[in-house]
Amino acid sequence: MSKSLLILTGHSQGLGRAIMDTYLQKDDFEVIAISRTVLGLGNPNLTEHSIDLGDLEVLENELPKLFPTADYKEIIMINNAGWIGEIKPVGSMQVKHMRIQVNVNLLAPMYLTSAFVDAYKDSSAKKIICNISSGAASKPVEGWGGYCSTKAAIAMFTQVAAKENKDPLFRFFSLAPGIVDTAMQDEIRQSDELDFPQIERFKNYKEDGELSSPEQVAAKICYMLGNESKFQDVIQDVRNFDLP
Ligand SMILES: NC(=O)c1ccc[n+]([C@@H]2O[C@H](COP(=O)([O-])OP(=O)(O)OC[C@H]3O[C@@H](n4cnc5c(N)ncnc54)[C@H](OP(=O)(O)O)[C@@H]3O)[C@@H](O)[C@H]2O)c1
Repeated sequence: MSKSLLILTGHSQGLGRAIMDTYLQKDDFEVIAISRTVLGLGNPNLTEHSIDLGDLEVLENELPKLFPTADYKEIIMINNAGWIGEIKPVGSMQVKHMRIQVNVNLLAPMYLTSAFVDAYKDSSAKKIICNISSGAASKPVEGWGGYCSTKAAIAMFTQVAAKENKDPLFRFFSLAPGIVDTAMQDEIRQSDELDFPQIERFKNYKEDGELSSPEQVAAKICYMLGNESKFQDVIQDVRNFDLP
């Protein structure tokens, strides 16, 4: 039986690590994983690439390695790598951080989505692109100017790609994963209350056990992508469905 392929960014920790582990448990998936950190797990179904998605020239040079052609049954790309960015109000943001954040959260997934569509447009495999967005895409949060904007933009880009693409073998999703217990949430809790007035609420999420585990969210993402015909909308939120 032919294998399926997952191309995943941000696999080295947090939600991405849990998504990678979930797919590696299925023996019929090869995984191509992209982060700056290489884990070196020695799994024959895993190929890791150390790429800084903040540097688009590096990404461009590495692109030919990321889209293998083989007789895959299904090809999934999950653009999961993301950065909360510098938590500062507008007026105090540094341009170097803005540039990195836009590259990682928006331009890299735009570029990878476009390259994926081009690479696999003639493939007879089922093809799914899932760009990880955020609830913050549709809610202004003080201190998160770069984060809210880049997540809103990738959600819109994904909707445009879905609207353009008439091939029924392609599906596009922009997915909000809820509030997940990862290093990103640690970073949020360590910010300054003056820059991030909602900090207490986020500290309470952790203290009150309201964060989802990366494994719970990865299981939902895997279920959604494995049952994509049950999910008709491009914009999805894991909090809107339960596992059967
Ligand atoms: N945690 C939440 O509550 C939450 C809520 C809504 C949305 N999200 C979204 O979910 C996704 C995963 O977040 P997470 O919470 O798992 O974050 P995380 O624990 O901070 O992990 C981020 C991942 O992205 C990779 N990454 C960051 N910068 C990169 C760069 N310049 N180049 C390549 N890879 C880079 C990191 O790998 P390296 O450091 O090894 O490069 C890491 O694997 C993100 O898109 C985030 O915006 C998270």
